[in-house]
Amino acid sequence: MSLLQRKILNLKTSLPNVIYSRKLYTTPHRFSELLLVHRDTKENNPKIPFQFTDANMKRIQALVQNYPAGSERSAISMVMDIVQRQIGWIPISAQHKVAELLSIPRIRVYEWVTFYSMCKRVYRGKFHVKICKCLPCMLRGSDVIVQAVEDATRCTVGGISGDSLFAVDLVECQGACANAPVIAIDDDYYEDLNVYDVYNIIQTLKCGLIPPAGPQNGRYAAEPICGLTSLLTCPPEPGHGLQSCFK
Ligand code: FES
Repeated sequence: MSLLQRKILNLKTSLPNVIYSRKLYTTPHRFSELLLVHRDTKENNPKIPFQFTDANMKRIQALVQNYPAGSERSAISMVMDIVQRQIGWIPISAQHKVAELLSIPRIRVYEWVTFYSMCKRVYRGKFHVKICKCLPCMLRGSDVIVQAVEDATRCTVGGISGDSLFAVDLVECQGACANAPVIAIDDDYYEDLNVYDVYNIIQTLKCGLIPPAGPQNGRYAAEPICGLTSLLTCPPEPGHGLQSCFK
């Protein structure tokens, strides 16, 4: 029996306990320093050089040209996104580089990067697994999903796996409640999950492949699982119901 099969079997047998002994999750404890203050470390300090790749520099130049002269700073969100896509997180030296590129004070970049929770100011693994913990997902079994993710990635919530492949965090509503429970891995949403789906997804990522995103229970989107209950007929032609003089 493979390791994956053993894990699924273990989880299957322990499932009732997990469901009936619900854990109480709160937002992971974060020190205020981590939220708002940068402290130089060996891996993250202004002396570590950061350069955009040539392709990314061309992207940035094209983006900045979309804004009138003097308003180049409006491109900050897109430039920071490019940083994060290039190296997976936004170190302090990259923040300084962005300030220099957009000719803005560094404090403007610090403000931006500490405001948005999706900005990673510390390295969060090759795959950042974000598990929704809000009410609809909780009612649909996100506790079990949390345990499955922790088991499959060998990484506890708030941590990073030993091989730096995965980091796991609990997040607020992902805006996909109709497909609860939901996890987001980097840009992709995995929806309508059960524990087996979680193991499959994580194992596929470990094999270097990207599993298909979206609902995992066969739904196309958020339609009823038992089939459509409304909008069963073709919509009327354009102009339907209008007075004839308007047609
Ligand atoms: S509560 Fe999980 S997506 Fe909204």
